[in-house]
Amino acid sequence: MKKEMIAKNIRAPKFSDCLNELEAEHEESFRETEKLSDVLTNIRYEGKLSLGKNLKEANRLRLFFNRVMRHHARLEETVIFPFLEKHVPKMESVIRLLRSEHADFEKTLIEFNASLRAVDRENDAGKRLLSLEKMQETGTYLIYLLRHHLYNENVSVYKTISRDLNPEEKKILVRKIRAAEGGKRK
Ligand SMILES: [Fe+2]
Ligand SMILES: [Fe+2]
Repeated sequence: MKKEMIAKNIRAPKFSDCLNELEAEHEESFRETEKLSDVLTNIRYEGKLSLGKNLKEANRLRLFFNRVMRHHARLEETVIFPFLEKHVPKMESVIRLLRSEHADFEKTLIEFNASLRAVDRENDAGKRLLSLEKMQETGTYLIYLLRHHLYNENVSVYKTISRDLNPEEKKILVRKIRAAEGGKRK
């Protein structure tokens, strides 16, 4: 590839690539909520024998939500939402709702983290059981919240970005996203 072409690619990241990456994170997160749902069912029915294996998977999913979804939500809050509020004023009330879902997700994730850590560390059998129940409760709510939120964003924010923004606005938004990400998504 010629030097000028490389420079041009760096200066003008593709809108479709950028949007695809964000939507792929939604799909990946949805799949991970399905896995979390399976883990919570397994914990309920498989008992003590498989508890170690199931907790290991729950911890893996916990780390995924902490890393990928927090990062994703931060990008929406700092770049995508403010941009849409400015360029598509009719989105204001939807974005207010999505921001409050982010806050609810963050609060629930903190509770889920804490209860899962408590299950891992607690030596007292009674307290451990209570933490396990709390983890199942917050995990179930986390799944509900996330699925609901991903759907809401797909049919509002992401649909509007691809359908209603003009080519110039799309270009500016992608540049802002890339700049916030230091040129790359992950
Ligand atoms: Fe979001
Ligand atoms: Fe999102």
